[in-house]
Amino acid sequence: MSEPIPIERWPARLEAAVADCGAFDQVRVLNDTASTQDAARRMHAAPGTVIVAWNQAAGRGRLGRAWASATEGAAVTFVLEPGQTERLAIVGAVAAAGAAEAQLEHAVGIKWPNDIVVGGRKLAGVLVEQNDNRALPAIGMNVAQLSWPSSLGKSAVSLRELGVDVDRLDVLEALIRHMDRAIVLSDEELMEEFSQRDVLGGQRLTLREGGRVITGRLSRLDPLVGLAVETDLGSVWLPAATTTVLKTSIDRVPDGSAASE
Ligand code: BTN
Repeated sequence: MSEPIPIERWPARLEAAVADCGAFDQVRVLNDTASTQDAARRMHAAPGTVIVAWNQAAGRGRLGRAWASATEGAAVTFVLEPGQTERLAIVGAVAAAGAAEAQLEHAVGIKWPNDIVVGGRKLAGVLVEQNDNRALPAIGMNVAQLSWPSSLGKSAVSLRELGVDVDRLDVLEALIRHMDRAIVLSDEELMEEFSQRDVLGGQRLTLREGGRVITGRLSRLDPLVGLAVETDLGSVWLPAATTTVLKTSIDRVPDGSAASE
């Protein structure tokens, strides 16, 4: 395992990465913060800002879950003008997948809506929060972890565990570059990049939409619009914005535990 690149070298490297971007023009490197999402709000960061943390002590995931990151994961929040949440989630997932593939040199999976998976284990997750003024799509990627809290069991995996000894700074650079690329993809290109990596299509799932729970085979997934599910009672169309996956046939553990605790 190589010596970590010290935080003093992060700003120059990340500013150079941002200088090559169309969507981002400044970077804030935080030594220690609870969550880069909250830091973005607190500092009223302008669209175009990228916020990273050396130590993210209380990261959060979707649906109120915690995200374990600390000093072994890559944690980044991108500040943008408000946009469609479902689209930003797929932009983030495609960016995270591209950055992971650049390190691993093989394809990874996207488990809709926001998990990057390898061998059924979660390598990275995407969180999109927004209000009237700002969208905050964020990515957390497991980089150097070699052990996990028992609550995660075998559901999480890091790049290190997958045989890649890479510095978090290199991963953050890759995430910034891939996010900048994914943001400008057309809906068709985004769908294509998503579909190539989709691991849920054709699987048997249990989903929640509004007050109902639906179980069936996922026959069509358009992450920007909705999902078609073949149930015992016929075909059901569910809007992407209000549907949550509860359980899938490829889960190592019930959905949601993977890589967040
Ligand atoms: C998930 O899988 O549920 C989403 C995980 C998102 C984690 C990232 S790390 C950077 C940003 N700050 C946070 O507190 N969460 C996101």
